[in-house]
Amino acid sequence: MDRPFRAVKITDRVHWVGAVDWGLRDFHGYATSRGSTYNAYLVLGDPVTLIDTVKAPFVDEMLDRIASVVDPSRVRIIVSNHSELDHAGGLPRTIAAVRPDRVIASAMGVKALRGHFHWDQPLHAPQDGETLRLGDLTLRFIETRMLHWPDSMFTYLEEERLLFSQDAFGMHLAGAARFADEFDTSVLHEEAAKYFANILLPYSGLITRLIGRLPELRIAPRIIAPDHGPIWRERPEQIVEWYAEWAMQRPRRKAVVVFDTMWQSTDRMARAVGEGLAAGGLGVALLPLAASHRSDIATALLGAGALLVGSPTLNNQVFPTVADVMAYLKGLRPRNLVGAAFGSYGWSGEAVAQVEEMLREMKVELVAEGVKAIYVPDAEVLARCRVLGETVAARVVERVPVAG
Ligand code: FEO
Repeated sequence: MDRPFRAVKITDRVHWVGAVDWGLRDFHGYATSRGSTYNAYLVLGDPVTLIDTVKAPFVDEMLDRIASVVDPSRVRIIVSNHSELDHAGGLPRTIAAVRPDRVIASAMGVKALRGHFHWDQPLHAPQDGETLRLGDLTLRFIETRMLHWPDSMFTYLEEERLLFSQDAFGMHLAGAARFADEFDTSVLHEEAAKYFANILLPYSGLITRLIGRLPELRIAPRIIAPDHGPIWRERPEQIVEWYAEWAMQRPRRKAVVVFDTMWQSTDRMARAVGEGLAAGGLGVALLPLAASHRSDIATALLGAGALLVGSPTLNNQVFPTVADVMAYLKGLRPRNLVGAAFGSYGWSGEAVAQVEEMLREMKVELVAEGVKAIYVPDAEVLARCRVLGETVAARVVERVPVAG
């Protein structure tokens, strides 16, 4: 009987044995509109080794794909490059199914796996840079702490120059094809940027350093095989170049205006702010929270020079959706932004000052005092909103002398 789920050959000695999650639409608060994949890889060395597993509900599919190449009982080593449950969630069932001789994770990975599963499964933590011979193949383990968890680790297959990069260089993108060269480049760029902005942005400095250290680490991959999305077998340097660019967080002449509204007052203010920003020479993205997911806002902010936030005051507080997105963005630690706040109110009007405080905490340079409108903005207030946009634009142009 034909197997419905089969491995996909990457090289003669390495197969993809992961799973495609076509229906995933939320990844702990990140909107994954194109689904995702959980990539696991079978290395046909001696012994046979499995690199990462899959999210728990997909274990049978992974085992079926393994079985299309070798009997799963021949998997004697499992390497867990990353213990987050989209990769390690299937580990307990996989261990139970194949009974490997050894399970390998970084030292922090061992701690994380024990924290997740509360088990006494023996785990082996190699030293950073340690190698493991699999007959005529060699795996090298490289700790990549905080990219993006403390446990994160790369595994490099020396002879094939194949980098198993776990979350790094990945993206949430389901598809029937397995290789990046089978997708439209604009889709790859969009989804990789979204992944970087929502998962890796806080660790931009570490990424810059890691990319700079690749020659010293003797990593020159011919293939990059991440844990999500397509595998880079042609021009793998493409995704590394994108990461190097995004990690610099270089501001551009682009402004993101995020706002919510109760009775269209803050909405009208946002439109006037946007007019001023555009008149001042910036590209403008107006993102009403009723129509914009927080993860799309984080993506829009990648490479922006300004963040402007509008909030009505509700029960003496910033509007709840604005609080949500500000908490999310604060955690992602975007850098090199200037900004301002605005919003309407009825009788107390605390929200603008609260948003300004949030922006300060995010190290956003406040360019001008926020604009407030009582109830409904009149022409004078809307004119001040336009000037606010122009003032922010002038500051961005000053900081970013060359458009682009
Ligand atoms: Fe794909 Fe950090 O898990």
